[in-house]
Amino acid sequence: MKGVLLSGGTGTRLRPITHTGPKQLVPVANKPVLQYGIEDLKEAGITEIAIILGNKGRDEIQEYLGNGSRFGVDITYIVQGEPLGLAHAAGCARDFVGDDDFVMYLGDNILNQGIEDLVESFQAGDYGAGIALQHVENPTQFGIADVDDGGNVVQLIEKPDQPPTDLALIGVYVFSNEVFAAIEELEPSWRGELEITDAIQSLLDSGHQIDSHVVEGWWKDTGKPADILDANRLALDERPGSRDGEIEDGAEVSGHIDLADDAVIEDGAVVRGPISIASGSTVMGGAYVGPYTSIGPNTTIKNVHIENSVVIGDSEVTTNGKIVDSLVGRGATISSSEGLLPEGRRLTIGENSNLKL
Ligand code: TTP
Repeated sequence: MKGVLLSGGTGTRLRPITHTGPKQLVPVANKPVLQYGIEDLKEAGITEIAIILGNKGRDEIQEYLGNGSRFGVDITYIVQGEPLGLAHAAGCARDFVGDDDFVMYLGDNILNQGIEDLVESFQAGDYGAGIALQHVENPTQFGIADVDDGGNVVQLIEKPDQPPTDLALIGVYVFSNEVFAAIEELEPSWRGELEITDAIQSLLDSGHQIDSHVVEGWWKDTGKPADILDANRLALDERPGSRDGEIEDGAEVSGHIDLADDAVIEDGAVVRGPISIASGSTVMGGAYVGPYTSIGPNTTIKNVHIENSVVIGDSEVTTNGKIVDSLVGRGATISSSEGLLPEGRRLTIGENSNLKL
């Protein structure tokens, strides 16, 4: 069994963050989203992994993952280029997969209980594909599977008006290499993409059995800023605390704290977990870092009260007042203009920024 981790795409919904970097490297609880996928594949015993690259962020992804040895896996890079669809991306891995089966994992998805059960369920039968499903509250917004009592897929329907079940397809699939023949025959959908659901439907139509597995635990697609904050909350709840950094006397610290070894919480700062603070970052006296906040590396937090937010890193957040529910891009500076005339907020805002002032 091999792994194919999709890291192309355009990440339109995550602009402006994705103007300068790939969304798969956005950190959730101070770990890039893509790394969760690598760890899940490894845990399921899959160490030969292809990373599908788009046009954006190729160098950054390769720089971060390298040959995979740091994560105990062996990584091959395949360039897809233009995002022509999930099935097109899978098709790019045909030579890499060879005669094997493979797991296709969307690089912007996080599953909290991994993929071992899904892989085992696929391997227990003679299936053309296996899909991961989760119960959702709004099935009209998802690709939905109809399954029989044995868990075999009967039909797949994209955003149905009258959903037969509430079982949505989530971002992990297992395929036999029969899928490549199905992908070759596909025509682009109305949105111009080769759809993976069409490839699975085609396997079904040609008589293959399709396994399904309902995933326990939470699952998050981190396509939008609010999803990153949700995933960050869920991941921080799970993360083992480590107070490796320095907590000065006079700092008020409570709850679950993940503090990297050269991070500092200074005298007079108030920090309430669950939070994560990466290396080289400082929370200065007078600042408050509240629950469900991740502060990336080399960042200074001063004066501000910040909570339920992700600061990606290399930032100065020194403004007075409160910051909540925010995603702060790498290298951002948020300071105060108090005392300056004329009074008012002074902004240097990138394209597609989103501010609530
Ligand atoms: P999506 O979130 O569906 O697409 P996107 O990344 O283009 O985002 P947006 O809709 O905001 O513009 O993609 C899911 C995952 O699959 C993501 O990790 C990117 C990856 N992907 C590819 O590698 N190749 C592709 O052709 C597509 C469509 C997605």
